[in-house]
Amino acid sequence: NSMSAHKKHLILMGMMGTGKSTIGRHLAQYLPYPAIDLDHWIEEKQNQSIPSIFEEFGESYFRELESQAFKHFLEQSQQHILITGGGIVLRSENRKWIKENGVVFHLTADVDTLIQRLELDGNRPLLQGNKVEKIRRIWSERKSLYESIADYQIQTDARSPEVIIAEILSHWHQ
Ligand code: S3P
Repeated sequence: NSMSAHKKHLILMGMMGTGKSTIGRHLAQYLPYPAIDLDHWIEEKQNQSIPSIFEEFGESYFRELESQAFKHFLEQSQQHILITGGGIVLRSENRKWIKENGVVFHLTADVDTLIQRLELDGNRPLLQGNKVEKIRRIWSERKSLYESIADYQIQTDARSPEVIIAEILSHWHQ
């Protein structure tokens, strides 16, 4: 098993609404590594929700917490399934760490699918206001960043979690 022989972390990356948390939770049933949802971990450690952190301290403060949390897990010799927030790629140091320490699965979906999935969501501070426009803009700003560090693109449109997980596992065990 060449991938796990590298002792890299399995990293789920992609836009809000691509299903990273759901897929990560399911994946943990098939692999002997703990699944860490970085957003949840930050919320528990700070004892504060992400929207509230954004509101009280601003985005750059959240990005600092996010980088610290990410680095904390990457540095451990124990392998993890790391479920990242959609903005993990914004900082170049994060992109460098991801490439060096992870096998990176980029979960994708058509923008129209993202818009549908996020329509009723009230937990994403970056989508306040004109949600459709913001989703389009964020995707166009990040697309090339995601693609520059992805090892595998995993399409999530109209596919069940089981099918997506089987695809991820087949790459991981390659
Ligand atoms: C963000 C995505 C969110 C969360 C925060 C910012 C982003 O995570 O980290 O709201 O910048 O794309 P999800 O990708 O799990 O929604």
